[in-house]
Amino acid sequence: MSGEGERLAELAKRRGYFFGATEAYGGAAGFYTFGPQGAALKANVEDAWRDRFTVREGNFEIEAPTIMPEPVFEASGHLDGFDDMLVACPDCGESHRADHLLEDNTPIEDAESLPLAEVEDLVADHDIRCPTCGGDLADEAVTQFNLMFETNIGPGSSTPGYLRPETAQGIFVEFPRIKEYARNSLPFGVTQIGRAYRNEISPRKSIVRTREFTQAELEQFVDPERDDPHLDSVADVEVTLYPATEQHDDGGEYVETTVGEAVAAGTIGDPWIGYFVGIAQEWYETLGVDMDRFRFRQHLAGERAHYAADCWDAESEVDGDWIEIAGFAYRGDYDLSKHADHADDDFTIFREFDEPRDVERAVVDPDMSVLGPEYGSEAADVASALEELADRNPAAFDGETVTVSVGGETRTVDTDVAGFRIEERTINGEHITPHVIEPSFGVDRTVYTLLAHAYNEDEVDDETRTYLSLSPTVAPTDVGVFPLVSNVPELVDRAEAIVDDLRRAGFSVTHDDSGSIGRRYRRQDEVGTPFCVTVDRDGLEGDGPDTVTVRERDSGRQVRLPVESLSTELDAVMDG
Ligand code: GAP
Repeated sequence: MSGEGERLAELAKRRGYFFGATEAYGGAAGFYTFGPQGAALKANVEDAWRDRFTVREGNFEIEAPTIMPEPVFEASGHLDGFDDMLVACPDCGESHRADHLLEDNTPIEDAESLPLAEVEDLVADHDIRCPTCGGDLADEAVTQFNLMFETNIGPGSSTPGYLRPETAQGIFVEFPRIKEYARNSLPFGVTQIGRAYRNEISPRKSIVRTREFTQAELEQFVDPERDDPHLDSVADVEVTLYPATEQHDDGGEYVETTVGEAVAAGTIGDPWIGYFVGIAQEWYETLGVDMDRFRFRQHLAGERAHYAADCWDAESEVDGDWIEIAGFAYRGDYDLSKHADHADDDFTIFREFDEPRDVERAVVDPDMSVLGPEYGSEAADVASALEELADRNPAAFDGETVTVSVGGETRTVDTDVAGFRIEERTINGEHITPHVIEPSFGVDRTVYTLLAHAYNEDEVDDETRTYLSLSPTVAPTDVGVFPLVSNVPELVDRAEAIVDDLRRAGFSVTHDDSGSIGRRYRRQDEVGTPFCVTVDRDGLEGDGPDTVTVRERDSGRQVRLPVESLSTELDAVMDG
C-alpha cells in the first residue's frame, strides 16, 4: 500500500471504520471487522443500493444460505472453473498470485486473462522474485488454485458443502420457486445483499481484496427475444467508457459518451448492460464517488468469468490503481441451463405465442413397455425426459439416438426403441430458458472508494486538518452535538436534550463534551460528520428563541439557527 492507502488505513483504524479482524489472536490475512463508523457507513451504502436497485426497480429481494451443497457448485461451474494462478516460493513457502506478480513487476497488465502456460513462461522470463523473502520463482510451476472454502454439512458427515463465492448462485438455484412468485412472467429482477467467501491467494489493499466480503447483486431475468429495458430513462447519462478494443491500442483511449449513444453505436453491445451502467453511474455519483476517478472498463476476452458472454466493470481510481468495484455481466442462459441439467426442477418460463401455432412435434409412445426392459425402473423417467426434450427441441429427434439427462445422469436413447413418432399439434407457447444480465456490486470496495475519495487535508489555524468529505447520504454520523464547555450543567443538559430530539427525528448523532471545541470539531471532521451543533450561553440567554451554532464540515462555515427549527433545517440540507 502506498501513501494514500496507508493514511486511510490508519484513519480507518483510529476512527472506528475498519481494522484487521481477530488481532488479539494474531489476526488472519484477508478478514476485517467494520467498527461502529464503518458498519454504519456500510449499512447506509446497502440501504442506498436496496432503494435504487430493488425498491425503485420493483425487484424481489431474497436471502439464501451462505453454505450450499457441492452439486450446486458442480452445476454452476465453480468447482471446476473458479481458480486463480498460484506460484509457491520454494524458500519461504508463501503462495502468491502469479498474475499479480507479473502486473506488479512488469509492464504486463491484465495477466489474469493469459493462459496458465504463458504466465509460467513470463514468470520465468522476467526473473520474478518472491515478494516476501526475495526467493527465486523462475523455475516454479504455476498451478490452478480453487478459491472456494470447503466444509462438511452435518456432524460427522461427509456431505461436502461450500461457502458461496458469489451471492448469485443462491438466486439461480431458487429460480423455480421465485418464478412462481413473479407469476411466471418475464422480465423480473431478483436481488440479494450478503456475504461471499473466496480463499484469495493474496488478499491485499485492506478491504479491497478480502476472503470474506459483501456483495449486492441483481439477477435480471429476461426473454432475450422480447424484453428491452427502459433505456430512455438513462439515455442521456454521461459515462466514461474504456472498451476492450481501445485497451489493445497502446495507451488506449477513453470514449466519453452517453449511455444512449454507446448502445446505439454498439460500444455497449447489450441494452440491458447499458441500462444498468446508466443507473450505476448516477447511483455512484449520489453516493459521493469522485466521477473524475471513475470509469467503465470492458473485459478483455480472456478475462471474462466462465459464465460471461460480455462484461463491463465499474472501476474507481484509488491509491494510483484502478480497482473493480462492480461488474455488469451478460450471463445468458448459462446458469439456469446448467442447473436445469443437474437439478430435478424446471428452470424455464412458459412463453405464450401471440397466436396458437400448428406444429409437428416429436412425442414418445405413452406405452412405456416400448422402452424395453433395459431401462428397468427408469423407464418412466426416460420417457418424461424424452417428452421434455421433444417439447423444447423436436429437431433433436431427427437422428437415431438422442441424449437425455435423467436424475443428473446423461443417457443415450435409441429413438426407435423409445417409441418416438411425429404428431401434428396446436400449441399456445413454448418453454424458454430466460437470459440473465447481472449487475454485481462489491459493498466493501464501494466503502473503500467512498473513504478514499472523501479523504482531504487542508490548513486550518496553521495546522493540517484531515477531513472526510462524505456525502450526507452515506455519512455514518449525521450530526455532532457539543456543549461549548463541559462544566456548565445548563449547556450540558441542553446539548443532551438536543441529542435526544435529533435522534428521535431519525438523525444519527454523536455527543462529545471532552477537550477543546476545536479538538472536537477535528474529531468529527476526521469521521466525516457533515454538521456540528454547538450549544453556548449566548444562544440560551437572548430574548428570542434559543439558538445554536451549526458548523458545516468542509467549509468550516458557521451559522446560528433556532433550536426549534434545527431538525427541519438539517433535513433540508441533507436531502440536498
Ligand atoms: N456474481 C458475479 C461476481 O461475483 P465478481 O466480479 O467476481 O462477480 C463482483 O465480483 C464484485 O464483488 C466485484 O466487482 C468486487 O467489487 C467484489 N469482490 C470480488 N472479490 C472480492 C474480494 N476478494 N474482496 C472484496 N470484494 C470482492
